[in-house]
Amino acid sequence: MNKTDNQTANVSPLTSIDLLCRPLLPEPFYQDDFVTIYNADCREVLPHLSPVDLVLTDPPYGIYACGGTWGHKADLQWDKKTQPEMIDELLQLAPKVVIWGGNYYALPPSRGWLSWFKPDAPPSMANFELAWTNQDRNAKQISQSIAATNKERVGHPTQKPLAVMKWSIVQMQMTGGVILDPFMGSGTTLVAAKDLGLRAIGIEIEEKYCQIAVERLRQQTLGF
Ligand SMILES: C[S@@+](CC[C@H](N)C(=O)[O-])C[C@H]1O[C@@H](n2cnc3c(N)ncnc32)[C@H](O)[C@@H]1O
Repeated sequence: MNKTDNQTANVSPLTSIDLLCRPLLPEPFYQDDFVTIYNADCREVLPHLSPVDLVLTDPPYGIYACGGTWGHKADLQWDKKTQPEMIDELLQLAPKVVIWGGNYYALPPSRGWLSWFKPDAPPSMANFELAWTNQDRNAKQISQSIAATNKERVGHPTQKPLAVMKWSIVQMQMTGGVILDPFMGSGTTLVAAKDLGLRAIGIEIEEKYCQIAVERLRQQTLGF
């Protein structure tokens, strides 16, 4: 065996398949025993993530473009309606999927909708929000006041109430496994998951919201 053959025997050359399979995840922005955050465009991260057990998310649905209450107040650069292909991709990521604002998308028929009723919503605002789920189960509703939610505000214009995200996880009967929120915003899904002793991955394109999520997670006292 000459030197070249010997080298070939010990060190196999990288094939294009090897290159494709190399882990391509970015460095996490934050990581602890429960939570990993990527500050990135989720379209670049999702193809490289290991399978998860629940996708619980609240994608941008274009409230600015739709001209709702917020539409007249905010110039939300990120709030472009999520592309249908992206929504289709979310459905493939986990056996359980919950999409807040699901009524903005052409999703398959479902009877397992979740609803957040806002008893104190002013007449100019919608008094409930809907989440589509892929679960064949009874539709359920939680009542959570806007006043209570306002006390939690950390600087994200479309922040969801922590109680609503925790309730969503409980509704999906998660007793273990990993939860993914590819549009995590201020990290409400991650805080809810960690509070319930569950692991979660969040992806957010805006660094300032990643930073807000990290602060929330650091201030959290674990409730389990
Ligand atoms: C409706 S907000 C989520 C708010 C979140 N539920 C909370 O409680 O704070 C959607 C978030 O998705 C982020 N986003 C938009 N496009 C994204 C993309 N391609 N990848 C990752 N994040 C994205 C936006 O910056 C925004 O913070």
